[in-house]
Amino acid sequence: MLPEVARAWEYLTRTAQELFARYGYEPIYTPLFEHTEVFTRGIGEATDIVSKEMYTFTDRSDRSLTLRPEGTASVVRSALEHSLVPQGSYVKLYYAGPMFRYERPQKGRMRQFWQIGIECLGAAEPSVDAEVIAVLIRFFEAVGIPLENMRLLINSMGDETCRPAYRETVATFIRDHGEALCEECNRRAETNPLRAFDCKNPGCVEVMAEAPLFRDELCDECADHYEAVKEYLDGLGITYEEDPKLVRGLDYYTRTVFEVQVDAGLGSQNAIGGGGRYDRLMEQYGGKPTPGLGFALGFERTLLALEAAGVEIPAPPLAEVYVARVDESVSGMAFGFTSALRETGIAAEMDHQARSLKAQFKQADRLGARLTVIVGPDELDAGEVTVRDMGTKEEVRVPIEGMAGRIAALLA
Ligand code: HAM
Repeated sequence: MLPEVARAWEYLTRTAQELFARYGYEPIYTPLFEHTEVFTRGIGEATDIVSKEMYTFTDRSDRSLTLRPEGTASVVRSALEHSLVPQGSYVKLYYAGPMFRYERPQKGRMRQFWQIGIECLGAAEPSVDAEVIAVLIRFFEAVGIPLENMRLLINSMGDETCRPAYRETVATFIRDHGEALCEECNRRAETNPLRAFDCKNPGCVEVMAEAPLFRDELCDECADHYEAVKEYLDGLGITYEEDPKLVRGLDYYTRTVFEVQVDAGLGSQNAIGGGGRYDRLMEQYGGKPTPGLGFALGFERTLLALEAAGVEIPAPPLAEVYVARVDESVSGMAFGFTSALRETGIAAEMDHQARSLKAQFKQADRLGARLTVIVGPDELDAGEVTVRDMGTKEEVRVPIEGMAGRIAALLA
């Protein structure tokens, strides 16, 4: 990430930190790579991520390790290992960093991409689903994506009571329509039938449009949970579309899943963020039954969406004040003034390279400085410096005594 993009990353993470703190989320950092099993177990052997996209290697002790393709598995592994979920309560965690998937690179899809995510472990209530969804939408709003550019899709993936039967229903449907479906979807009937809803092949899309929908086959508990989530979202005034074909690409989901998509700027990689509930994941790592849910959003796709919406990422000036030297005789004083300004809390830069005054003004403009302090022998003899307003080009003399305070006042 070059400075312009790195600055945007910092802007997004700063916005996330401020917003997530209001919802009670604490930071967590997990390793960039883990034992491969952490991901195969959690994300699921039959998913694209595990079967095709992981960067897996053996280390010098012949252990199989994998660069993290996402954050949830590691956070849950860590929460179990360090008993982070308080008895009878929940813990709220957020993370930000690079993830790795061996996908076919294209616009908005890279092999190293950056995610910001949250996970809430220990809470089963539907109000928390609505809260997590709200955090995601509020984040995108806060960074500047207009609400009307976003589409929030929600669905329920059921649970261990109703999903096995529904999976079988879809598997049967696939087998019955095998000839009209691609080879991969035929294989999915045996491994991961619900993934057929996500096939991009036009023929498969057409056939799967007729497949039985989960929302008609949810058990009572899952149906009630889903209804309650929608009511809470309504209460927050958050608009959503129900998408009964939204299945997401990870196996750990139960009940609520959601995705935020945008139309402009992204082509087919239009999901800027997504997540859901995973009430059985902790058990898959050998822990006690512990509900959980969260989301992750993609940094690069968020940037593309911001660009498409014409939003400029705020870029603070590299210097608010530039200290220019008339000649080298005043170098020591200029150096001291620059340092005094910085200690007052002002972003200041000086000329280190004995450039002409004209070149120094140019440099001041380039850095975005609003004021330039001109230090010359004549001014110094009078116990003063000249302060030039880079906008109006007006100049005033300011006593050296108390200069930093005066400049702070001028900037304010
Ligand atoms: P995911 O949908 O796989 O979910 O990824 C979340 C977001 O990461 C996507 O919406 C997208 O913006 C971004 N993303 C994914 N793959 C790429 C890629 N190759 N290039 C660029 N951006 C990408 C998860 O990762 C889950 N862990 C989310 C979650 C958290 N569910 C529950 N808790």
